[in-house]
Amino acid sequence: MKIAIETQWSTAEIYLQGAHITRFEKKGDAPLLFLSGESEFIKGKPIRGGVPIIFPWFGGREGFPAHGLARTSEWDLEETSLLATGVVTLRFRLPTIDPLDADFVVHVGDQLTMELIVKNAGAQEATFETCFHTYFQIGEIYSISIKGLTGCSYYDKVLGGVFTETQESIHIMNEVDRVYFDTTAAVEIIDTQLRRKILVTKSGSNSTVVWNPWIEKSQRMPDFGDEEYLQMVCVESGNVANDRITLAPDSKANLKVEVSSEPLL
Ligand code: BG6
Repeated sequence: MKIAIETQWSTAEIYLQGAHITRFEKKGDAPLLFLSGESEFIKGKPIRGGVPIIFPWFGGREGFPAHGLARTSEWDLEETSLLATGVVTLRFRLPTIDPLDADFVVHVGDQLTMELIVKNAGAQEATFETCFHTYFQIGEIYSISIKGLTGCSYYDKVLGGVFTETQESIHIMNEVDRVYFDTTAAVEIIDTQLRRKILVTKSGSNSTVVWNPWIEKSQRMPDFGDEEYLQMVCVESGNVANDRITLAPDSKANLKVEVSSEPLL
């Protein structure tokens, strides 16, 4: 099932499978989120694009689905409200992944605000990873630059190894799959073709992942168009690998990400 939301500033669509936002579009602007034309929308298969919620693990795990169980699980819609400001808020709950309870709260307005609140309902410490795997729509990969990660250490999954980001502005010219560690900084995507700047601000997050599959990986992915790497980039906010979270019994972790855009002057 899909929920459609309209506010005075924007429209959005969210599937109950994965509590997965597939669309956020400000009126008069190009969509902010990329959604693949090849995405399959089959029960139990991840949707390709939008904002997959990655939880309770990031990446592969032997014998289990990649990127955790949350993105292919049916979430329950627990609450909807229209605030006096005109912002629409929805709260979803994931059936317990023992011992973790997860709520996803989304605020749709002039910007998109997402919160993942995880509680350890068990009697022992629990460790897990979280990530909003946000796919952004861009004019063309050659006309964007990504700012905010200078000086950060990252694990490069393509080259293998840990490096330090030396660029002020990151330009993507090949396959990029990097996990930046220990960074709470906001990230900007400057798009000179769509003439806009996307701003991703976050709290409760120490990792930022930047991903573009480029040509060969795009061809290998059955639910992604061969040329679609040109129109998207993932800038993901969460807590993965060494930044994973350990929670004491009865305590909570809150990952919050705000996505906004403004025209480039
Ligand atoms: C990224 C990972 O976050 O997600 C990549 O860093 C991975 O390694 C990508 O290929 C897509 O994953 P999936 O499971 O949605 O195909």
